[in-house]
Amino acid sequence: MAPSPGPFRIDVFTLFPEVIDHYVDASILGRARVQGYLDIRTHDVRDAATGPHRSVDDAPFGGGAGMVLAPDPVFASVESVAASEEGMPRPLVLLTPSGRRFDQREAHRLADLEGGFSLLCGRYEGVDQRVADHLVDEELSVGDYVLAGGELAALVVVESVARLVPGVLGNERSADEESFSAGLLEYPQFTRPASFRGWEVPDVLRSGDHGRVEEWRRVQSLVRTLRLRPDLVEARGGLSDQEVRLLVEHDEVQLLRDHGYH
Ligand code: ADE
Repeated sequence: MAPSPGPFRIDVFTLFPEVIDHYVDASILGRARVQGYLDIRTHDVRDAATGPHRSVDDAPFGGGAGMVLAPDPVFASVESVAASEEGMPRPLVLLTPSGRRFDQREAHRLADLEGGFSLLCGRYEGVDQRVADHLVDEELSVGDYVLAGGELAALVVVESVARLVPGVLGNERSADEESFSAGLLEYPQFTRPASFRGWEVPDVLRSGDHGRVEEWRRVQSLVRTLRLRPDLVEARGGLSDQEVRLLVEHDEVQLLRDHGYH
């Protein structure tokens, strides 16, 4: 038998380790942690703070509002884990609104890192630039908005990467299905009851005809993506001839015209 890979390791450096641990343990990730698929370790940066008040922040040089996360406790926290027997997985990723945008492709990239990776959550008005310049390997943002700290961003990264790790979800999706829907929005899903307050589940989904179901889902994905996220269709190089034909067959000629096809 092939040796089973060890758990996928993610270390999170934060001032709020309990926030990360509570979310992980309350969600599907907690089960994966217990079952040994995930090894998520949180490190409290404040533990590395010295001084009577164990303070981790200070006023910005040059003036301005807010406080800046000081370099000393951050370097000390990361270096103590890195020097420990089990070390620290790299890359070390700083979560900051000025980072490169995190997306599903980035999630796959991180999930493919055999040794796992580490996350550093920013706080206050920012992190001393020397942390970005000399300690971390890269910077990621979860979107063009500013959170009060990196913890929610770290959880976004942890959850979206963890669900790609084999075993974590329990019901593995086939690679086929992943690539089938790659770059498109999901099709609509329904469960029982078939009729709810007079709103019916589409007949095709109850037909038992897998070929028709698959085709309907494909059409729904394409229609939704064209309507709501035409930028995603562009990013995958537009619609194939076969997809255009499919949409014509499903009476979506107007939608195609609206998006410059035909
Ligand atoms: N910290 C604050 N805002 C953030 C964002 N949008 N992404 C990542 N980290 C953040």
